[in-house]
Amino acid sequence: MTYLTIPLDSTHDKSSFSCGKEMLDNYFWKQAKQDVKRKLAACFVSIDQDSNKIKGYYTLSSNSILNELIPDFFKKNLPNSYSDIPIILLGRLAIVKDFQGKGFGAMLLMDALKRCFEISGSVGAFAIIVDPLDDAAEQFYSKYGFVKLPDSGKMFLAMKTVRELFGH
Ligand SMILES: CC(C)(COP(=O)(O)OP(=O)(O)OC[C@H]1O[C@@H](n2cnc3c(N)ncnc32)[C@H](O)[C@@H]1OP(=O)(O)O)[C@@H](O)C(=O)NCCC(=O)NCCS
Repeated sequence: MTYLTIPLDSTHDKSSFSCGKEMLDNYFWKQAKQDVKRKLAACFVSIDQDSNKIKGYYTLSSNSILNELIPDFFKKNLPNSYSDIPIILLGRLAIVKDFQGKGFGAMLLMDALKRCFEISGSVGAFAIIVDPLDDAAEQFYSKYGFVKLPDSGKMFLAMKTVRELFGH
């Protein structure tokens, strides 16, 4: 598969990146590289070919959620004996301010979903979970089929749905 993004490495200039959300900016400037080094997250960046600046980033980590949190519709084929269900956490996703509102967030999200789908061929992952920062982020993710999980701010997208998206 081809991707819009490449893994973050030390040659990338992180300092010019700002999405306007302090938490996401600080994470990217100060912590992303450490998390990658410690294998706590994988971080992917998209680089603007003209300016060589970072246009957006996202992070992926393996994680799990309680079986009881899985929406009923997707639960019917899950064995009850599995108390935790493996998922991929799309921990953070952000676009540099200049590029926001131009369809790039949607493209970066598709890139992340494609990667998750490919990973799920090697490491079991029943769904993709996001933890939206605020209502705006929640609205963004709900456009692409993520649904809110009960009793948590997190949102869920079944890998089965992602597979249908990429036509396999
Ligand atoms: C949220 C974010 C990733 C969206 O990326 P973007 O490039 O601005 O969004 P796009 O232009 O691709 O928009 C895709 C769709 O989402 C909608 N959308 C984008 N931002 C939205 C917002 N803040 N509130 C509601 N809908 C939004 C757009 O209207 C568009 O829908 P349409 O196709 O029906 O017109 C980006 O604005 C961003 O990085 N924001 C700051 C960080 C952040 O909040 N990240 C969220 C993860 S916690």
